[in-house]
Amino acid sequence: MDPYKYRPSSAYNAPFMTTNAGAPVYNNESALTVGPRGPILLEDYHLVEKIANFTRERMPERIVHARGASAKGFFEVTHDVSNLTCADFLRAPGVQTPVIVRFSTVIHERGSPETIRDPRGFAVKFYTREGNFDIVGNNFPVFFIRDGIQFPDVIHAFKPNPKSHIQEYWRVLDFLSFHPESMLTFAWLFDDVGVPQDYRHMEGFGVHTFTLVNKAGKVTFVKFHWKPTCGVKSMLEEEAIRVGGTNHSHATQDLYESIASGNYPEWKLYIQTLDPADEDKFDFDILDTTQIWPEDLIPLHPVGRLVLNRNIDNFFAENEQLAMNPAHTVPGIHYSDDKMLQARLFAYSDTHRYRIGVNYLQLPVNAPKCAHHNNHYDGCMNFTHRDEEIDYFPSRYDTVRHAEKFPIPAKIIHGKRERCTIPKEDNFTQAGVRYRSWAPDRYKTGL
Ligand code: HEM
Repeated sequence: MDPYKYRPSSAYNAPFMTTNAGAPVYNNESALTVGPRGPILLEDYHLVEKIANFTRERMPERIVHARGASAKGFFEVTHDVSNLTCADFLRAPGVQTPVIVRFSTVIHERGSPETIRDPRGFAVKFYTREGNFDIVGNNFPVFFIRDGIQFPDVIHAFKPNPKSHIQEYWRVLDFLSFHPESMLTFAWLFDDVGVPQDYRHMEGFGVHTFTLVNKAGKVTFVKFHWKPTCGVKSMLEEEAIRVGGTNHSHATQDLYESIASGNYPEWKLYIQTLDPADEDKFDFDILDTTQIWPEDLIPLHPVGRLVLNRNIDNFFAENEQLAMNPAHTVPGIHYSDDKMLQARLFAYSDTHRYRIGVNYLQLPVNAPKCAHHNNHYDGCMNFTHRDEEIDYFPSRYDTVRHAEKFPIPAKIIHGKRERCTIPKEDNFTQAGVRYRSWAPDRYKTGL
C-alpha cells in the first residue's frame, strides 16, 4: 500500500482525530495524567473509549469454518436452464449477478494454518433481484454423516480434545468407526485433495440434493458443482508442512494477490438433474449426503461461470460478519427432504443471531441488494430508521401486499413419526470404487 495515497475510508469524514461521539482529540498518544509521571485520570474519556473499543474488537468466531477468506465478483449464466427453474437470476444466458464467496477450513480456529488436512468450505452468496441465494458447500461432494442430529458429535470428534486442546485422530477414528457411512468422505479427506494447494485450485459442491421448480411447477432434483478453470491442485504432506511452516495464511494471500494482479479466479457451474419419478431407480438414496450421484449415470450440465474480480475492502466487515445460510433460497430453488439439509435450515440463522446479533441481515455484506420489507424490527444494533406508522399486516393504510405467488414442490408427504436411519444404506460401494480408482502405487501403499 502506498501510504501517501491512503485516505481514511468512508466510515469517517473528519480530517482530524475525534472520539466516537465526534469530539476533537488533540492528543492521541499521551494519556491524561496528573503531572508528567502521575497516575491516569478516569476522566480521560478518550483513553477509556479507545481501550474499551479495542478490548471488544473480536466477535465470537464461527463454531466451524472459523478460518476463511472472501472475495467478490459475479456469476454469469452461460446456458439456458429456464425450462428447469423460474429463478430470475438464471432466466437467460448473459444475465450477471453480483456475488461474494467465502472459502474456509472447517475444524480449527480463526488463526490456524491453511495447510491442514481438512475439508474446505466453498460458500457463494448471490445477490439476486429476488433476494439472496446462498450455496453453502464444501470442496468434497459428500459429507461424513447423513443425519443432522449427529453434526455436533462429528465436529466434536474432529475438534481438539477438550482436556488438552490437541486434535487427536483416535477420537476421530473412534467416532467414525460407528459410522460406516463416513467411508467415502474419509477417502476424500485422506486422498491428495485433503490438502488443496490453495482456494483457487479446488472444486466446490452444494453436496445436498436441492429442488428446482419451473414456472409450471414442475420439480427437478439437482446437485450443484463448481469446477475451477485453472484445474484442481493439491499439496502432498511434505509440501504442506513447508508451506504452512513459512506462511500460515498462504491461501488467503494467494486469493488476494491473484485478484489484485488481475489473475481472476474462475469456476464453471454445472448441475446434475434428476426427475423425481426416477428417485428410486438407484442402489443408493438420492437424498443421502454420504453418497455422490455417479456422473456416468447422471451427467453434468453446464449452467454458468463465477468470476472473482474484486478483493474485499475490509476483512472484518466482509469476512467475519458475513453470514452464509443454506436456508437462503429464491423462487425456483427449493430444499429437499435430506435430513442434513433440513437440520442446516435451522442452524445458520440461529448461530448468526448469536454470533453477529439479531440484526445481522442489516449489515451491508448480508443485506439483500433488492427492495425488501417486513415488520420484524428494532432489537440490538438496529440501524434502520423506520419512518412509518403501520407496523402490522394487513392494513388499509399500507400499500405493501403479499408478493406474487411462486410455485413450490407440491408433493404430498406422509409417514409415521420415527427416529431411524434411511432404509437404503449403501455404505461401502462408492467408497470402494473411489479407492480402486487411485493410481496402483498409491493403491498398494494406501496413500
Ligand atoms: C458454517 C452448522 C453441515 C458447509 C457453519 C456454521 C454452523 C454450521 C453453525 C457457522 C456459521 C457461521 O457462524 O456463520 C452446520 C450443521 C450442519 C452443517 C448443523 C449439519 C446439520 C454442513 C455441510 C456443509 C457445510 C454438510 C457442506 C455442504 C458449511 C460452510 C460453512 C459452514 C461452507 C462456512 C460458511 C462461511 O464461509 O461463512 N455450519 N453445518 N455445513 N458450514 Fe455447516
